[in-house]
Amino acid sequence: MIFEQIASGGCQSYLVGCDETCAAALIDPEISQIDRYLALAAKHGMRIRFLVDTHTHADHFSATQELARRLEVPVIMHRQSPAPFVDMRVDDGEMMLVGDLRLRVLHTPGHTRDSMCLVLPDRVLTGDTLLIGGTGRTDLPTGDATALHDSLFNRLLKLDPKLLVYPAHDYKKQGHSTLERELAGNPRLQKRERAAFVEMMGSLNLSMPTHLTEALRTNMSGGKTIAQLLSEAAAKVSFMSMEELKGRVEAHESSLLVLDVRERDAYVEAHIPGAKLLPRGQLELRVNQELPDPTRRVLVYCDFGKVSTLAAATLREMGYTRAVALDGGMVAWSEAGYPMKEGTEP
Ligand SMILES: [Fe+2]
Repeated sequence: MIFEQIASGGCQSYLVGCDETCAAALIDPEISQIDRYLALAAKHGMRIRFLVDTHTHADHFSATQELARRLEVPVIMHRQSPAPFVDMRVDDGEMMLVGDLRLRVLHTPGHTRDSMCLVLPDRVLTGDTLLIGGTGRTDLPTGDATALHDSLFNRLLKLDPKLLVYPAHDYKKQGHSTLERELAGNPRLQKRERAAFVEMMGSLNLSMPTHLTEALRTNMSGGKTIAQLLSEAAAKVSFMSMEELKGRVEAHESSLLVLDVRERDAYVEAHIPGAKLLPRGQLELRVNQELPDPTRRVLVYCDFGKVSTLAAATLREMGYTRAVALDGGMVAWSEAGYPMKEGTEP
């Protein structure tokens, strides 16, 4: 068996592969690590056959849907998962065959309703049901402390105590543990009586994870994250540095049209000399009047360089093949002390 643990911040993903057949499963992949997973699988000579999320993640952006599209392999989640893009729904007691390996599903609701652990002969991927020195929280959507108590004490912790524990989160970089070690030392497992456990879980006062709303929106619907939209747009356009633009502005280069896509108020307050105003919200509807020549070289800028990247990608899509985005924005431009002008358009 090949087994790789891939950390991305505190999130842990796993590549589990069969040596005999070169088939592998990727568990809990995160969107920023796609190239790493593919490179690792290639390094081991493995073909990823299954993409598994142990539960609906509220704190990271799952890469299962994107990888499924690229690799043409199924996304697997528990039957209770709300995500519409799941190809194979599994339930307690079932197995996934990864070459000669068998990954057994243990349904362990509590952290979320759709949480599951994946059991291998010598180890268990515990998702967010059991962490090293902790457990998953139960105060996020579909969380249930009573269910977690049952999943832990009547299911997971009844397995062979020698099993290695590989969780979906490991903030302290401990790597792995064993069921036995967790039973003995994990502070959350010392309240074994149900009511006491539920009371403890209810009084943790944890702060909300960053990106909670966006993570649930994208992981439950299959929609894109803002970072994905921006990186897709950035792959479609070229950029110009602020320094390069400053030189061209100072030289009054007439062949370059500088386009400010912020709102009018921001433009009036300060803009790049010679820039034309066309707010992002009106771009598609006014582009024919404002930019009649699609062969014109256009440089787009905004405050931070994000909206301008989206706008430049839209312009390229509409046939402005020389649309370029500023690598930077008005905020950095102003901080650099580069030339600015007040007032409305001439
Ligand atoms: Fe989680």
